[in-house]
Amino acid sequence: MPREILVTSALPYANGRIHLGHVVEHVQSDIWVRAMRMAGHTVHYVCADDAHGTSIMLRAEKEGITPEALIDGVWTEHTADLRDFGVIYDHYSSTHSETNRGLTYRIWRALEQNGHVESKPVKQLFDPERQMFLPDRFIKGECPVCHSKDQYGDACEVCGSTYTPTDLIEPYSVVSGATPIQKESLHFFVKLADFEALLKSWLEERRAAGGLQSEVANKLKEWFADGLRSWDVSRDAPYFGFEIPDQSGKYFYVWVDAPVGYLAAFKELCESGRKQELGPAHFERFVRAESDTEMVHFIGKDIIYFHTLFWPAMLHGASLRMPTAVNVHGFLTVDGAKMSKSRGTFVNARTYLDHLDADYLRYYLASMLGPTLADIDLDLKAFEERVNSHLVGKWVNIASRCAGFLHKNFDGKLADTLPQTARARYGAAAARLEACAALYEARDYAAAMRAIVEVADEANAYVADHAPWTMAKDESRHAELHTVLTLALNYFRLLTIWLAPVVPATAARAFEFLGEAPNRFTAARTPLLGQGINPFKTLATRIDTRQIAAMIEASKESMQSPDLQTAPAPQPSPHGGGGGKLGPPTISIDDFARLDLRVAKVLVCEPVDGSDKLLRFELDAGDLGKRQIFSGIKAAYPEPAKLVGRNVVFIANLAPRKMRFGVSEGMILSAGTGGTDLFLLDADQGAAPGAPVK
Ligand code: 2FM
Ligand code: ZN
Repeated sequence: MPREILVTSALPYANGRIHLGHVVEHVQSDIWVRAMRMAGHTVHYVCADDAHGTSIMLRAEKEGITPEALIDGVWTEHTADLRDFGVIYDHYSSTHSETNRGLTYRIWRALEQNGHVESKPVKQLFDPERQMFLPDRFIKGECPVCHSKDQYGDACEVCGSTYTPTDLIEPYSVVSGATPIQKESLHFFVKLADFEALLKSWLEERRAAGGLQSEVANKLKEWFADGLRSWDVSRDAPYFGFEIPDQSGKYFYVWVDAPVGYLAAFKELCESGRKQELGPAHFERFVRAESDTEMVHFIGKDIIYFHTLFWPAMLHGASLRMPTAVNVHGFLTVDGAKMSKSRGTFVNARTYLDHLDADYLRYYLASMLGPTLADIDLDLKAFEERVNSHLVGKWVNIASRCAGFLHKNFDGKLADTLPQTARARYGAAAARLEACAALYEARDYAAAMRAIVEVADEANAYVADHAPWTMAKDESRHAELHTVLTLALNYFRLLTIWLAPVVPATAARAFEFLGEAPNRFTAARTPLLGQGINPFKTLATRIDTRQIAAMIEASKESMQSPDLQTAPAPQPSPHGGGGGKLGPPTISIDDFARLDLRVAKVLVCEPVDGSDKLLRFELDAGDLGKRQIFSGIKAAYPEPAKLVGRNVVFIANLAPRKMRFGVSEGMILSAGTGGTDLFLLDADQGAAPGAPVK
């Protein structure tokens, strides 16, 4: 039965460039949209720029332009980048639109009327110079735990501790450098606890229907267990966003109107007249609670909370339909590590496109993407090899090897019929690839690509075994040659149909060569016979290692240019203590000697219930006895049990710290910048537990 599905990708912030991390998600959803359309469903695919918030306001201010001018320029760049990656939306809007304002207000008023809103005063840090409340990321100071300077207000990037900005020592505003003061202000909250029962049944129902991955459902259950606290949805002026109706000087937090932007973009599409079957009434039918249509969101694993708690609650609270599926993917790593500006692996979409074909990355990503939250690694060597071997060597080559013979010997015309054995061969291959429709729908693209490559291998073996180049020399084998070329080119066509969602531009060129434009997977069931095909033109060329090297080089360069960057620009610390490129000030050997660094052997290493970042270690520290240490390196070591038995280096004389989970007695040392880019220090074989490190 054909279904009607609205598909969205997460809305990129309007203050940064599209980079390969975004590309993973938009390509994943674009492939899904194309595959679902080829399976016969009606799909509307929308997105928008996420245009509100403090960062965008301050960024515009810094550039001396209005936020509107900033987001307009970014919109133009974002839409071009995504389009050139073959990501084709029915509509790409901005959350800063009147449609979005209208829908946000409509949802808000319904939430108010249904009693889901409360207000209470909140104490927050305030920049007395700039006269604004400071979000956590705009406050820096000394980490209360490890005393590293210039750490953000919510978490220390050095020791991984999380805290609130008021815990920071000598805090300062990133905006003006001033020392923040505490100030009270009235905030508005959505009472999330009102929706607990509803969200729980939505979770179970969606999980059973395949609309929520089990990892996501489990995460949600943990949050339920912690209790759902009311959600602070207001921010004080100055703020770039929508002012809350009847509350002068209070604005909706960017995360309120961002997901509403999904629906606003769809509403604009419905009202644009661009799709005949849509119209204003269609939108209303689509959003009502009993709608039998589907709404499918693609997101990264960092924003699950917003999409599986706040967003469904807001919709339900306003008597609107809820999401059918929230499909979550992992993060992109490059060569096994977090994307890094200094290594040149933080690659902007445009920089990639300046050097390489979009379909190459689309194919590689498809070959890596499964239905789980696992991170996706762009291994640059594997990328080059896979594209060259699969796309060029196994797929395109079938056509390039056979087309010439067909033109030379048969006027470019495929045989009118195939003998029984060839028909059976084709039928079996076509039947095997039918499984890809379900694999695409389940977002198991990697499995679909494996099936396609298997059939490509079979096709190439067929061509090699039948050697049309030998047959062409023998007049008596003319008919046989026609069969071989016709079947080989039908293999090529079959592969093209199933690859089309992944490599749309290359597939379009391939279909031009074949003289047809099938838009359904079912077209693959019937081979193409008796038809003339066009002369072969190159469809794809091999990647040269130098193209990849040039892209990495260019990424290093482009990060140095003072153009768009995602994070707020770093400000010099007004509190001394070094920082910046100069590094920390020098210390004496006596300073160093004050540190009691020791080797220890890991006895236990396990995740900590209720913490996303921490691992709990029990160490054998030799003559110092056993030590328990909490370390914020979970992202870098997803399998903590594997650390048992290895040596680590730790600071033994750091004052013990009482944490929510227990007392931490020291700090384990690791190298790297934080997150997944952290590597435990090791000591060579023979170092005994408790041995001092000097
Ligand atoms: O995390 C982000 O990049 C957000 N701009 C995503 C918003 S998605 C949606 F809810 F709007
Ligand atoms: Zn710290």
